[in-house]
Amino acid sequence: MAENRQTPYALITGATAGIGWELAQLAARDGTPLILVARDATRLQQRKAELEERWSVPVHVIPHDLSREGAAQALFDVVQENHWPVDTLVNNAGFGTIGEFLESELARDQAMVRVNVLAVVELCKLFGWVFREQGGGRILNVASTAAYIPGPRMAVYYATKAFVLSFSEALYYEFKPYGITVTALVPGPTRTEFQARAGMKNVKLTKFLVMMNAADVARAGWQGLKKGKRVVIPGIFNKLSVYSTRLMPRAMNARIIGWLQG
Ligand SMILES: NC(=O)c1ccc[n+]([C@@H]2O[C@H](COP(=O)([O-])OP(=O)(O)OC[C@H]3O[C@@H](n4cnc5c(N)ncnc54)[C@H](OP(=O)(O)O)[C@@H]3O)[C@@H](O)[C@H]2O)c1
Repeated sequence: MAENRQTPYALITGATAGIGWELAQLAARDGTPLILVARDATRLQQRKAELEERWSVPVHVIPHDLSREGAAQALFDVVQENHWPVDTLVNNAGFGTIGEFLESELARDQAMVRVNVLAVVELCKLFGWVFREQGGGRILNVASTAAYIPGPRMAVYYATKAFVLSFSEALYYEFKPYGITVTALVPGPTRTEFQARAGMKNVKLTKFLVMMNAADVARAGWQGLKKGKRVVIPGIFNKLSVYSTRLMPRAMNARIIGWLQG
C-alpha cells in the first residue's frame, strides 16, 4: 500500500471490535491513515486488510496489551521509532467485569485500572507533549454514562469511567491554548463484545435497557471529535438517563444500578 507520509495518523486503541472498530472505519472513510492497537494480532491483520481494501488508506497495526506495566510508553516508542506522524489519539480500549468487588480477582481489577485509566493518562501525556510541540492535535477518550453514577457489582469499572470523564473535561480546558481538542465520548449500553467479556449476559441491565448499536455511537463520537466538542452523549435515551441520574440522590442511583446489575 502506497503511503503518504505527510498525512497524520489517527491512533485508535481497542480498534478491532465494537465502538473502536466503527471509529476506525469512520476515520478510514475520511481518508485518515490509521494505527490500530489491540491484543489479538490475527484480528488486527484482518481489520487492516479490510480497511486498506475498502478505503485505500495506510494502516499500521500494533498488537499490544495495555494492561501491562509500561504498555503506553512502549506503544508510544513504536510510533516514534517508525516516525509515524500522529495528530489524533483515540483512547477507546476498555473493559468491565460484573460481580461483587470482594468476589473478583485483584489482578483483574488491577488490569482494568491499567487499561481504562492508567493507559489513558499516559497516552494523553505522551501524545499531549507531541501535539503541543506540533501546534495541535485531537483526543477522543471513551468514557461511559457509568461515569455519572456509582455502580454496585461493577464498582471498579464505574469508577474508572468517572475518572476518564473528569480527566477529559479538565484536559479540554488545559489543552485548548495549545490547539489540542479533548472530547469525552459518553456511550450508554451499546451492543458490542463488551457484555459477553464482562459476563453480563444475564443481568437485568442488559435485558431491560435500550442498547444502541456501536456504529451510531461511533458516528456521534467521530463527529464530536471533528468539531472539538467537550462531551458527546450519543442518543436521546442516554441523554435523558444522564439528566435523570443527576436529579436523583446518588444513594438512590446506586440502589437502582445495584438492582439492575444483580
Ligand atoms: N459496550 C458498552 O455497553 C459500552 C458502554 C459505555 C462505554 N463503553 C466503553 O467503550 C469502549 C469500547 O468498548 P466496546 O463496547 O466497543 O468493547 P469491545 O467490543 O469488547 O471491544 C474492546 C476492544 O478493546 C480491545 N482491548 C481489550 N482489552 C485490551 C487490552 N488489555 N489492551 C489492548 N486492547 C484491548 C479489544 O481487542 P483485544 O481483545 O484483541 O485486545 C477490542 O478491540 C470501552 O472503553 C468501554 O468501556 C462501552
